Order: sequence, then C-alpha cells, then structure tokens
Amino acid sequence: MVILQQGDYVWLDLKTGREFEVPLGAVVKLCDSGQIQVVDDEGNEHWISPQNATNIKPMHPTSVHGVEDMIRLGDLNEAGILRNLLIRYRDRLIYTNCGSRTYTGSILVAVNPYQLLPIYTAEQIRYYTNRKIGEMPPHIFAIADNCYFNMQRNNRDQCCIISGESGAGKTESTKLILQFLAAISGQHSWIEQQVLEANPILEAFGNAKTIRNDNSSRFGKYIDIHFNKRGAIEGAKIEQYLLEKSRVCRQANGERNYHIFYCMLMGMSPEQKKKLGLGKPTDYTYLTMGKCTFCDGRDDSKEYANIRSAMKVLMFTDTENGEISKLMAAILHMGNLSYEPRMYDNLDSCEVVYSGQLLTAATLLEVDCLDLQNCLTSRTIITRGETVSTPLNMVQALDVRDAFVKGIYGRLFVWIVEKINAAIYKPPSREPKTVRRSIGLLDIFGFENFHANSFEQLCINFANENLQQFFVRHVFKLEQEEYNLENINWQHIEFTDNQDALDMIALKPMNIISLIDEESKFPKGTDTTMLNKLNSQHKLNAYYIPPKNNYETQFGISHFAGIVYYETKGFLEKNRDTLHGDIIQLVHSSKNKFIKQIFQADVAMFPVALVTPLSAPFSFLQGAETRKRSPTLSSQFKRSLELLMRTLGVCQPFFVRCIKPNEYKKSMLFDRELCVRQLRYSGMMETIRIRRAGYPIRYTFVEFVDRYRVLMPGVKPAYKQGDLRGTCQRIAEAFLGRVDDWQIGKTKIFLKDHHDMMLEVERDKAITDKVILIQKVVRGFKDRSNFVKMRKSVMLIQRYWRGYRCRKRFSAMRLGFCRLQALHRSRKLFTQYHFARKRIILFQARCRGYLVRRAFRHRLWAVITIQASVRAMIARRLYKRLKGEYHRRLEAEKMRLAEEMRLSKEMSSKKAKEQAERTHQERLAQLAREDAAREIGERKEARRKKEMLQQLEKARNEPVNDSEMVDKMFGFLGVPSVVPGHEGQPPAGFEDLERSPRPMDEEDLDASLPLPEEEEEDLSEYKFAKFAATYFQGTTTHTYIRRPLKVPLLFHDDEGDQLASLAVWITILRFMGDLPEPKYHTAISDGSEKIPVMTKIYETLGKKTYKRELQALQGDAEVRPRWPIKIGKNFPPEPSRG
Ligand SMILES: Nc1ncnc2c1ncn2[C@@H]1O[C@H](COP(=O)(O)OP(=O)(O)OP(=O)(O)O)[C@@H](O)[C@H]1O
Ligand SMILES: [Mg+2]
Repeated sequence: MVILQQGDYVWLDLKTGREFEVPLGAVVKLCDSGQIQVVDDEGNEHWISPQNATNIKPMHPTSVHGVEDMIRLGDLNEAGILRNLLIRYRDRLIYTNCGSRTYTGSILVAVNPYQLLPIYTAEQIRYYTNRKIGEMPPHIFAIADNCYFNMQRNNRDQCCIISGESGAGKTESTKLILQFLAAISGQHSWIEQQVLEANPILEAFGNAKTIRNDNSSRFGKYIDIHFNKRGAIEGAKIEQYLLEKSRVCRQANGERNYHIFYCMLMGMSPEQKKKLGLGKPTDYTYLTMGKCTFCDGRDDSKEYANIRSAMKVLMFTDTENGEISKLMAAILHMGNLSYEPRMYDNLDSCEVVYSGQLLTAATLLEVDCLDLQNCLTSRTIITRGETVSTPLNMVQALDVRDAFVKGIYGRLFVWIVEKINAAIYKPPSREPKTVRRSIGLLDIFGFENFHANSFEQLCINFANENLQQFFVRHVFKLEQEEYNLENINWQHIEFTDNQDALDMIALKPMNIISLIDEESKFPKGTDTTMLNKLNSQHKLNAYYIPPKNNYETQFGISHFAGIVYYETKGFLEKNRDTLHGDIIQLVHSSKNKFIKQIFQADVAMFPVALVTPLSAPFSFLQGAETRKRSPTLSSQFKRSLELLMRTLGVCQPFFVRCIKPNEYKKSMLFDRELCVRQLRYSGMMETIRIRRAGYPIRYTFVEFVDRYRVLMPGVKPAYKQGDLRGTCQRIAEAFLGRVDDWQIGKTKIFLKDHHDMMLEVERDKAITDKVILIQKVVRGFKDRSNFVKMRKSVMLIQRYWRGYRCRKRFSAMRLGFCRLQALHRSRKLFTQYHFARKRIILFQARCRGYLVRRAFRHRLWAVITIQASVRAMIARRLYKRLKGEYHRRLEAEKMRLAEEMRLSKEMSSKKAKEQAERTHQERLAQLAREDAAREIGERKEARRKKEMLQQLEKARNEPVNDSEMVDKMFGFLGVPSVVPGHEGQPPAGFEDLERSPRPMDEEDLDASLPLPEEEEEDLSEYKFAKFAATYFQGTTTHTYIRRPLKVPLLFHDDEGDQLASLAVWITILRFMGDLPEPKYHTAISDGSEKIPVMTKIYETLGKKTYKRELQALQGDAEVRPRWPIKIGKNFPPEPSRG
C-alpha cells in the first residue's frame, strides 16, 4: 500500500489499452478524503478511488525534475524516458543524453523545438569546444566536438548517424554539426565556405514542402568531411541516396514540388523567364498538384538569390546554370502538355496537342518537336524480327512523359551532386605520410509507414533496417558478444535484433530485394508474378506477412519499427528505373550537350540504339540484353547502402535520435503517443538498459596500463610488463576498490561510467602533478638559464660601470693631485719668489742706497758747484750792480760838480752849490728809485721763475688721469652705450662676436687650499715711465712726442721690424693729426685713370714708401718745435710689433 502526500509525484496508468499509451506523470493534489486527486502532466485532473490504487505508482526522484543522462533514471521504462524528455522539453532543454561517455558511441536525443532557441551562438560553440560529453549539458555541439576530438585523439574516422522521422530535425542537426565543425576547424577557408554552401543547393533541388515538414529532404545524404593532419577542413564528399523523383510529377494535397521550381519562377528576372517561356507557379500542372504553391516562412525569390550565390561559390558556371534552368523549364512545359485520345487501328492511342508549350519544350531540349511528340505517344518494339511502333494509350503516354521528366530531374540531381563534389572533394594524397581523417554525417530519411507504401518506401525502410542493425550491433550485439568472449560475469539483456528481417529483405539468398530485382529483369515479369514469387519463397518467414487472398496486391514486412504493408503495383517499373529506348534515342538526337551529358550513362547502355536512326527499329531483345547491364534501382540502392555500411563500420559512431514532438510543426506541443512510437522504434529503451547494465568503458590491458600507470609510481610501460593482467588488477583495486562493479576479462578490463570518471579524475590529478613537476623543472631551468644570462650581463655592466667610475674617480683624483701639486709648487715658488724678492728688494735698496748716495754726492757736488756758480753769479751780479750804482753815483757827483761849476758862474757858489746839491739829491733819489724799481723787477722775475719752477715740479709729480686724457683725445667718437651687452647693432657678419661674454665655469681651486696671504705689493715700481726708462731705446721717454721716432721704442734685430714699428708710429702720428696725410705719388690723378684700391694700399703701406717718408719726416722733424704731451702709462707706445 502506497502512502501518498500532497505534492508527491506519481505515475498514473490510465490503462486505455492504446498501443503507444504509457503511464504519465502526475502530482498529488488531495489525498485526505479517501479518494486521491491528482493532476497529470497534461494538466488534467483525475480522481483515483482506493479500488484503483494500483493505477498509481510513486515516482522515482530522478523522474520528478528530470536528468541530463537517461541512464541515471530511476524509473527505467518508457514512461520514465518520455517524462524526462517532456519536462526537459517544457524547460526548452531539447537535448538529452542517453548513456554519455560510453565506449560504443554516444547517443543524443534531440526533440525538435520548432522554434529558434538561443543555443547555437558562437559563444555556445566556444563553450562546447574541447569538452567531454557529460561534462557539459547535452547539446548537438557536444556530439560534434566529441566527433572532432575523438577523430584527432584516436586517429580514427568518426561518423554521426542522425535518424528520426520526417520533420524530426535531422537536416537541421546535420547543419548545426557542420557549422560547429567549420567553426572549430577555424580556418575560415574557401573550402569551408564551399562545404557550407553545398547545403542550400542540395536543399533547393532535393527538398520540398510536405505535410510533415516544410523543408523535407526527399533524398538521403552522407556528407563525409575530410580533415587534414592539423584538423582543418580539407574537403568533403557528398553521397546522395534515392531522390524521390515522383514528386516532380505528383504531389499530395498540401505539398509542393521541389523548392527550386518555385524559387526559379519567383526569383528569375522577367527577361530570363521570357527567354524560357516561363510564367507563374500556378501556371504549371506539375507545381499545382498539391494545390499549394507557397510555403509559410519561406521567401522563394530571396532563396533563389541565395541558391545562385551558393552555386557561384561551388563553381557552377553561368552556362551550366542556364542549362539547368532550361531543363527545369522544359520539365514544367512538358507537364503542361495536353493529350487527346485517338483510335488507331482499333487501338487506344493518343496525341499530344500541338501547342506553344510543346514547341518550347522541344526548343529547350533542343530536339525535333515531331520526334518529341512521337516519343511521348508511341513505343517502338520488335516482334518476330520486325520493329513495330505501337501507339500508347492516354495513361501509358502520360506515364512515359512523367518517366521522362523524372528521368531528367533525377539525373540532373545526380549531376548537381557530382558537380558539388568536383568542387569540394579532393582525392586523398598518395603519399603514405599524409593521413586524412574524416567525420561522416548521415542525414537519411527515417522509417516510414503510410497507408499505401510504394517501392521507394521499401527501399527507405530497408535503409533504416540496415541502420538499426548497425545501431544494434554497436550497442547490443558487439557489446554482449564481447562480454561473453571476455568471460566476464554478465546477465544477458534481451534486445530486438532485426538481423532476421534484414536477412529476409536483402541478405540471405532469394531475399525480397533479389526476387524483385530478378523479376524486374525478366521480360515477362509483372508485379503479380513478383508477388507470387515473394509469397512462395517467404510465406513461412515470421517477418513476412503474405497477402490475405489472391486478389490482394499488398505484402507486409515486420520491420524493427512495426509492420509495413507494401503495395506491389508499379514495383517492377520503379525498380527498373530505365527510360524507354525511344526516350534515350530522343535525348541522343538532342543538340543540347548538357542533356546528353546527364544522360551519358543511359546512352552508353544502348549501344545499338545509338547507331540506328530514331525511326529505325531496333531489337527488343537487344534492348533487353543491354538493359541487363543497366542496374536496377534496388540493386543500385543496395550497393550504395552496402558501401555506406562499410564506411560506417570502420568509423567510431555517434547517434543522434531526432524526435518530432507533434505532427503540427508547433512549438511547446508534446504528443505523447507520437513520441512513444518514435522512442520505441528507435530502441531507446533497450539502449538505456544495456548502457546501465553494461560496462560502457573498456580498455585492453595494454591501453589500461599505459593510460593509468601514471597513477602508480613505479609501474613500467605495458611493453615492459610481464603480467599485464595483474598490473591492471592492482591499479584498479587501488583506485576503484576490490568490491566495486568492475570486471577483468581475458584481454580487457571493463568499467562503469563512474569508474572511468574516477580514474580519469585521478589520472588528471596525477598528470597535473607530473605536468607541474615538469613545468617546475622546465621553468627552473628556463629561469636559471635566464638568471645566469642576466647575471653575466649584470656583471658585464658592473664591470664596465666600475671601470668607468674608477676611471672617472681616478681622473678626478689625478686632477686633484695635479692641482695639489700645482698649489704646492706655486706655494713653493711663491715662498721662493718672496724670499728672492725680499733679497732683491734688499739688494735693490742697497744698490739704490749706493746709487742714491752716489747721485747725492754727485748732486751735492753739483749743487755746491751750482751754488758756488750761482753765488758767484749773484756776487757778480751784485758787484755789477754795485759797480753800476757806484758809477751812477760817481756820475751824479761829477754831474753835481759840473753843475756846481756851471751854476757858480751864474750864481753864487753857495747858491750854486746848493742848487747843484739839490739837483744832485734829486738825481740820487731818481737813481735810488730806479735801483729800487730794478730790484723789485728782479725780485718779481725771480719770484716768477721760482713759481714756474715750483709749478713744473708740481706738475711733474702729479699723477696723470688716463681716462680724462683718453676722453679728451677720443671724445669726438661719441658716447658708447653704457649697458654691457647692449652696445648697439653689431656690424654685418660680426653678430656672433657681439654675444655677451659667456660666464666661465667657475672652479673653486682655492677653496681647499688657501694661498698664503699676499703682501700688499707696491705697484708703483711698475709704472710705464719706469718701463720706458728701462726699455725704450735712445733718448725716448714715456711721454708722447709729436714727431717721428728715429729709432723704435724697443729693440729689434730685424730691419724690417724696426721699419714697421717706426711706420706704426708714423701712422699713430697721422691718426692723432700730428702729421699731415702723405702725398701719394699715384694719387696725382685727375680722376681720369682708375687706380685699384690694392695698389693704393701697397703704395701707402709699402716698405719703400714708408722708408722714404720716414726719412723725409725725420729730416723735417728736426726743425719742428717740440710739444711734449704726457701719455698714460697704459697707452701702448707701439702696436703689437713695437
Ligand atoms: N534545433 C532546431 N531548432 C529549431 N527548429 C528546428 C530544429 N530542428 C528542426 N527544427 C525545425 O523543424 C523543421 C524540420 O526539420 P528538418 O528539416 O531538419 O527535419 P528532417 O528530420 O530533416 O525531416 P525530413 O526527413 O523531412 O527531411 C525545420 O525546418 C525547423 O523549422
Ligand atoms: Mg531533412
């Protein structure tokens, strides 16, 4: 008895008895009132009475919220699987794993969302790149990524089998994988672009809108993508299977013909259409059979542009495009042909009504219109050696036309695929070293079961039967066989093996396909005879369901996905898949090379027909013989399937099971029964069971040891191991435990998923440790070498730096020492000098003393002499004066006596004496006055002379003011600028000299070692006057003279120098205005002759001129008065050479 609580999840079995009904999930709403109220996953409420309590079962927690990998489901049944898909689908999680990380290949269940989910972005691609399945949420990209990395790691080809019903999303999944591989290959190359662009072309010609899918692929395809060693896409090859050709002529209600027809009519320019005689889609019978010419969400004209650009990428030339369009147009025109019944020789016949359409069709096919007409209404046969043209009745004629049209389209499609392959396929290199790996994507029609199933359906289901067998073999058979072979403890799991059905259909002798084939080749074979043969051969086979009575034309086959009844009508014709000889002949007669090319194989099958004219009869037997060589549809299909299975057999497979959630192409609508049917047919249930019970991971001992020996230090590589099995066991026991559910077989070790996970984690850890160790060592080595290199460089730099620094310090020191030496020397010299100077001064003093004394004595003597002379002169002068006075007095006495005598004559002697005495006294007074005046005058004169002498003496002793004198002399030049550095505009060309003097770098040389205090030197000794007195020659003094010198101021050996210095003096005199300007001999010009300046200069400054002038001037100067001018001590007596 189950005790339930509100909110519990349960399985609710409604027990309706329907084939695909399974219990559905429900949540308990009420359970306290005896009855239990539950709400199921569909939202319906149910009341369960205690009597019906068996209808509900508790749900395993894993089924409540769903799991990413279905082998983790607790409720491992169809209901559990279905609910898991449902709840994930409602969360828009459309992908679910089914036994991820398995050895035999992963299975991904993809439910068509019918809406664009944001899970296919470039970011998602990056997110899923290089991840393990199971590590990330399930995704189609995870499958693609694993394909790619398995291919690279295991160096094995991979394949991905994408299966599911029509509209389940196979093609979309294929495109997504392709997109991922192109992105991960990462070259953005032309070839990648070409591979991607092949899809729109294939879809245009091979896809059509059907009731189940607006873009249904009406052919199967296997795209093999080739990768080079570096993992870049190198090319691809597309294999196509069984295009549904009947769609060209007939479409079910609501369905369309192939997209390309509508795209062409909507997308072509009016001119192009006019050329091909085309109109609207509704104009054509072949396009309107399904009464549907539009497809929602599809813009045919835009698609046409895309198709054309894709064709360009894939190297379809414009001519080829034109030819394709022509054939397509011809097909449409042929579909519009109208037939009229006729009676001919009592036989039902018909005639194609002559019309524009017929003419256009014939023109486009480039055949004769009449031939086309005949071909479509009659057939040439040979009976008893005669060729007979038999008229066809209306139905037969329409069949012939349709067959022709289908033939053209089918071959055109094949040609297009070949053309695409020619662009993208590169044959493998013959060089053994260049290995090429591939990933194959199989997008093939799913199992189908309609009310009436045709021959094509049998082929499709046969293909699916093969794929199921491949799946079963991989997932179940090989697995279990291996367990048995390895002798491990294993409980066999029952699974549906479709091998027997496959044997009956195609493998064992007298199988259904071979019987149909045989009957097709048999001239008298009909669909009925074929059915009879099938019945007699297989009626006892459990997989064969014979018709219930003789009138029934259906037989059934019990496929892995259920019983399908096939309608045998038309089987043989479809299987023969050959066109009537007349049609081939017609094609041969065509002038259109393209149509001939696409029919090339058929034409080659009819060698006789080729040489005979169209109307000429040809042997039916011959035709039959040749037809033997033309393969039937079933045999072709079987062969290509075998090839495919062989290709898949060597690949590591991945499976994508696409599930269609509803028949209405609606999002978020989950049809439970439809999904159960798909899950059941896909064998998902058994898959999960075996995945869970089995050991998905296995390694050979060698592989195991080599992969995991890293976990156990000291374990040698496998090739060095003696006991591989024991080593494996030791490793497994150490890391997985003894009792866990892993097994060791004869050659392999079998592990569960989680074991692999554990070992991988440990291995990852161990490898990471080792990697870190290696990195450590390598980094250590790298850093050490770097360090050594750096140290070397540092030392070099240090060496140079130290050298430089020491050198610098040394030179500073040397400089210091030199300076010190200099100072020392200078000090020494200074002391010596001062010592010597003192001595010299002393010596000079003595000398001077001596000289002065001598001079003094001399002067004293001179003075005394002068004094004596002067005194004598004074005495003489006094004597002279006294003598004069005496004489004058004597004279006066004489005059008085004379006067007294004279007056005594006139007067008394006394009076005369008195008179004479008075006159004599006056005279004496006069003489006394004159003497006094003379004395005063003399005194005055003496005083004047004395003053003059004093003045002269004073002037001689007065210092000369040089600047005053210079100013006086050069005042006429004006006042120079007083601001230093602003002396005015410099003369042109001397600007650089005018810069203010750069301050010299100061070096404090004396800072460290002060010089000894200098004694105040008496510079009066070094006066210019003294210099002149010492060095000037002749009688020249330091004073300026205004006449030419006779000898130079200083002594010169060289006569030239002497002359030069004299000339300089003359120049100075001229400059001072003391000499007149010279008279130039050459200057006696009247202005008529032009004398060069240089000549004048030479003339003026020439030696001879100077000499001459000098002599003249010297002579002249003798007579000139002297005006001595005192010159300053700094005034240069002569210029440089003087
Ligand atoms: N992953 C997806 N995301 C969104 N829509 C999808 C996805 N897969 C399929 N579909 C939708 O479902 C439609 C049918 O898908 P698709 O053509 O791949 O089916 P199919 O299995 O190839 O059918 P058929 O056998 O008829 O070719 C697509 O046109 C698209 O609208
Ligand atoms: Mg498809």
